[in-house]
Amino acid sequence: MASTTLSTVASPSQLCSSKNGIFSPSQALLSKPAKGLGFGRERNGGKVRCQATSSITADRVPDMGKRQLLNLMLLGAVSLPTVGMLIPYTYFFVPPGSGGVGGGTFAKDALGNDVIAAQWLKTHGPGDRTLTQGLKGDPTYLVVENDKTLATYGINGVCTHLGCVVPWNAAENKFICPCHGSQYNNQGKVVRGPAPLSLALAHVDVDDDNKVVFVPWVETDFRTGEDPWWSA
Ligand code: FES
Repeated sequence: MASTTLSTVASPSQLCSSKNGIFSPSQALLSKPAKGLGFGRERNGGKVRCQATSSITADRVPDMGKRQLLNLMLLGAVSLPTVGMLIPYTYFFVPPGSGGVGGGTFAKDALGNDVIAAQWLKTHGPGDRTLTQGLKGDPTYLVVENDKTLATYGINGVCTHLGCVVPWNAAENKFICPCHGSQYNNQGKVVRGPAPLSLALAHVDVDDDNKVVFVPWVETDFRTGEDPWWSA
């Protein structure tokens, strides 16, 4: 009874005990072990070799070229989705492009459109001061001079006291802050506190397409003769 059981289930010793030392699965599974020889480990004076096992192992290990190819495929499979996720993640933290040129920023009107100088001057008369979107998105006044040209400077509308946007008061010919009453003259120079400083300036240029461009002002403040506090 015991020998019947052993004949249908091959043990590791049987798999390594063929006569000629070459692995034969059918032989290993179907043949009966010789009576009194156990699993055949002692046949031939204990010189049985396990060539079958080593043959299987060698066949199942891919060569170096295949392994490198598999590694490359794995690397590509991991990298592509990772890069795909990183791109939108990175763009999430980058502010939208201003569309400016040479360090400048195109002025935008209330609708977010680029300001075209010629069109602007058709609808904005002498002495006009109207807010546009300027450098870093700051509200910035475009100034129309008395000769119906755009002033070469724009006035940042952010109050230097606590940051309210200061409206233009044409009747008073001043910028008057509604928050704490600070006042600035028609060029944005502070004339009454509590605001400690004048409104910041930006250069106003017109590019080849007649679009208005704000450029950082880093020169002396022409209103005070001092260095610009906003570019420190
Ligand atoms: S925020 Fe303008 S005066 Fe205070």
